[in-house]
Amino acid sequence: MKIAFVGKGGSGKTTLSALFVRHLALRGRQVVAIDADINQHLGAALGLDEHQTAALPSMGEHLSELKDYLRGDNPRITSSAAMVKTTPPGAGSRLLRVGGDDPFHTKLATEVRVGAGSPDVALMATGPFTEDDLGVACYHSKTGAVELYLNHLVDGPGEYVVVDMTAGADTFASGLFTRFDLLVLVAEPTWKGVGVYRQYVDYAADYDVAISVVGNKVHGEGDVAYLREHVGGDLLTWMEHSAAVRALEQGRGDVTLEASNEAALACLLDAVDVRPKDWPKFHRQAVEFHVKNARSWANRAVGEDLEAQIDPDFTGEAYRPQ
Ligand SMILES: Nc1ncnc2c1ncn2[C@@H]1O[C@H](COP(=O)(O)OP(=O)(O)OP(=O)(O)O)[C@@H](O)[C@H]1O
Ligand SMILES: [Mg+2]
Repeated sequence: MKIAFVGKGGSGKTTLSALFVRHLALRGRQVVAIDADINQHLGAALGLDEHQTAALPSMGEHLSELKDYLRGDNPRITSSAAMVKTTPPGAGSRLLRVGGDDPFHTKLATEVRVGAGSPDVALMATGPFTEDDLGVACYHSKTGAVELYLNHLVDGPGEYVVVDMTAGADTFASGLFTRFDLLVLVAEPTWKGVGVYRQYVDYAADYDVAISVVGNKVHGEGDVAYLREHVGGDLLTWMEHSAAVRALEQGRGDVTLEASNEAALACLLDAVDVRPKDWPKFHRQAVEFHVKNARSWANRAVGEDLEAQIDPDFTGEAYRPQ
């Protein structure tokens, strides 16, 4: 399952991503965690120290090697330079498996231990964004590596990719937001928090993307009622304002999350696990965004008709885990 945490700056995307990743790993699930935020904090939230965080390889810096691997001997993709972030797989392309023997997982992922006896979490990071990454064209964009990764990834039962996304509506500037089985919108019970919800829900509806709201930093029934009033049935669960989260942030290691917050994470996991996999839709949307991308800037940037990269015989069936 592919899950993204989105929402307003400071709402708790990184905190909830990290808590959810731990929750999964402690239950024996196979997890890839990806820090795709401008400011890279997921490593620290998963317990890495400053030195370890600084040593995380940056996905964005290995783009051309990654593209070469993914395109394999797909004859429709003439070079790694002609492969853009939306280029969909076709015959000859290589698909990825969670934790597989490929450059994403062997070179870019750092194993993070979250508990004795639990599988390590594979942490990947886009690397911090620079001015150049924030342009409209996004040709060299750091999140392009994440989009390529997700476009080529076959995730089977018990396998999860959790992405900590950048704040605001940036997520919708590309097809990236359609790559997930669930978008988790983290919302504080404030008018700004639910304002972002309205914006997201409009975008998501246009593209048939599932979105659920997880309230955060909730203090009491009044806050829950406020969230219910503004997001209605999209409110999946909520995390209370947490002394444990605060203690973690203060560097304490021996922290136990409150039972109510553990229950919220369990509720989120249940909601993720019942999401139906729709590989044909997954591929259809990849193609749709590739066409959009090709026409709006990529054909010009590359100097080729990139719609020719679409393999009409490649369908969502090719992704189905064996
Ligand atoms: N449930 C909670 N209880 C207490 N503090 C929380 C909770 N959730 C988040 N926080 C705190 O709120 C602050 C912002 O959280 P976090 O960094 O996770 O937000 P973010 O959405 O990732 O922010 P950014 O947009 O800057 O990436 C942090 O200090 C974090 O510890
Ligand atoms: Mg963050």
